[in-house]
Amino acid sequence: MKIIKAKDYDDMSRKAANIISAQVIMKPNCVLGLATGSTPIGTYAQLVDWYNKGDLDFSGVTTVNLDEYKGLTRDNDQSYYYFMHDNLFGKVNVDLKRTFLPNGTEADSEKACRDYDQVIADVGGVDLQLLGLGHNGHIGFNEPGDTFVAQTHCVDLAESTIKANQRFFASIDEVPRQAYTMGIRTIMQAKKILVVVSGADKAKIVKEAFFGAITPKVQASVLQLHNDVIVVADEAALSELAL
Ligand code: GLP
Repeated sequence: MKIIKAKDYDDMSRKAANIISAQVIMKPNCVLGLATGSTPIGTYAQLVDWYNKGDLDFSGVTTVNLDEYKGLTRDNDQSYYYFMHDNLFGKVNVDLKRTFLPNGTEADSEKACRDYDQVIADVGGVDLQLLGLGHNGHIGFNEPGDTFVAQTHCVDLAESTIKANQRFFASIDEVPRQAYTMGIRTIMQAKKILVVVSGADKAKIVKEAFFGAITPKVQASVLQLHNDVIVVADEAALSELAL
């Protein structure tokens, strides 16, 4: 695991975007695994900026997102489909037919998850997986538990996650209770993993996840076993570590 220290959020975003653009330039038909949440927003904005300057071309790229709320339609501004269109897909020349997310409107969880694993298999797996880090150590929506779940599955969101995401909704009652998420095996099978973390409120979990015991109670801790992980974190997020 390689940890890159960034000065602040903007610096983290630029450094992470650099790694993603290197991937796109070196392999124009790559498969990018993408993430939502507040942390990667600046990374996407930087990629859009470079695209607008003519330095990046997404026309050959395929994307698969980590997760989606169960029950939200694509036009709901809190769906991850909407988020991705708002922050990236609608602003660069990626072929929308090659952008994939779990289908949040599929009520049959087993079918939604099976279909999504098939999509990931069909595109040939992920070259570079971008990840944020939840306060409880979740990656995608793989919540703390007794096991690591291999494939795409339907999760009951942890109470802390519902509270953390409440800020995006009009009220806590509107936060979905379930989501479809890519499983840990799929994430671990990505050739390269890029984790972005920002803010002092993540400092404790950064230390636990990347320097603590490998345990499903802290799902991100499994990343310690992957042979090509880059964590780009700002000084505040690294403040509990002596780096
Ligand atoms: C969300 C997403 C995760 C994300 C995490 C952290 O619930 N499902 O993929 O990494 O929570 O979000 P943030 O970056 O806003 O702290």
